Amino acid sequence: MTRPDQAETLRKKMESRLRNVPVLYPRKAKTLAVISGKGGVGKSNITLNLALALQEKGKKVLLIDLDIGMGNIDVLIGTSSSRTIIDVLTDRKPLTHSLSAGPMGLRYISGGTGLDAMFELDQERWSFFMNELAGSLTEFDYVLFDMGAGLSKDALPFILAADDILIVTTPEPTAIMDAYSAVKHLVQTGNKLSMKVAVNRSRDQKDGLYTFSRLSHTVKTFLDEAVQFAGTIPDDPLVSKAVIEQMPFMIKSPQSRVSRSVRLLADVLFQIEENQPAEEKQTFIEKLSSFLMRRT
Ligand SMILES: Nc1ncnc2c1ncn2[C@@H]1O[C@H](COP(=O)(O)OP(=O)(O)O)[C@@H](O)[C@H]1O
Ligand SMILES: [Mg+2]
Repeated sequence: MTRPDQAETLRKKMESRLRNVPVLYPRKAKTLAVISGKGGVGKSNITLNLALALQEKGKKVLLIDLDIGMGNIDVLIGTSSSRTIIDVLTDRKPLTHSLSAGPMGLRYISGGTGLDAMFELDQERWSFFMNELAGSLTEFDYVLFDMGAGLSKDALPFILAADDILIVTTPEPTAIMDAYSAVKHLVQTGNKLSMKVAVNRSRDQKDGLYTFSRLSHTVKTFLDEAVQFAGTIPDDPLVSKAVIEQMPFMIKSPQSRVSRSVRLLADVLFQIEENQPAEEKQTFIEKLSSFLMRRT
């Protein structure tokens, strides 16, 4: 484990390095990476329905399925995109070429399916994707990334560069432990991070708060870091029904408890920050560029 003083030195080093990255693009969209430790905790359902909740509020949202080769946003929406992120990454197709139209005006980029598990991209291809992405950031209010389970080498730069990281866990101790491991991994990179937690499949609000307190207490005790509470989403058979019917629950049942909880999550995640004065900080693309270039 990194000691606090070590972490501080690392952070300072990283910050001074990042200050030297030139300003490349104007920033507009707010970026959010949705992650988890364990798979199957509800990331894709939360990301998709959160994106729809923002669309409903009149925002322009781009959802990028970064569970590359195993993406399932398409399946949850009930469509099948012929153009996916794989086209951008392997054939250098423009990002706009791979944009699909989802419900409620949502735009998304499918993660694609059937890709070899050993699929690895070189720096150049990621740089191409990053430049394409930079263009899109000026077109949207929010860009949401649905990440695969765990923290792969390819996913890490996106997570570290995002304005906010939403960690999804369930009340199960295994999910909490895996969420903690993910947080530990992120903290050990020495970067300044905004980490928020959503507890999915909670029995009730108390169950959700208790789950959050277990995770945040462990993070505080062993990593001396803080994670913020973003909300709870109830365990509801409607979610599974919506998945089977391939219709997002936000559309299938907009007034259900689960839909309302996702709207609340959107408020907590984004509205508060909108009311705060914009800080002088690095843009997503500047950060992403420095993290991608640093990978070996
Ligand atoms: N709030 C919930 N209530 C009930 N079941 C849920 C809930 N969230 C997720 N699930 C179940 O978990 C499954 C996996 O969700 P998914 O969003 O695909 O997870 P991930 O993207 O983390 O792998 C869903 O298909 C659904 O059956
Ligand atoms: Mg998923």
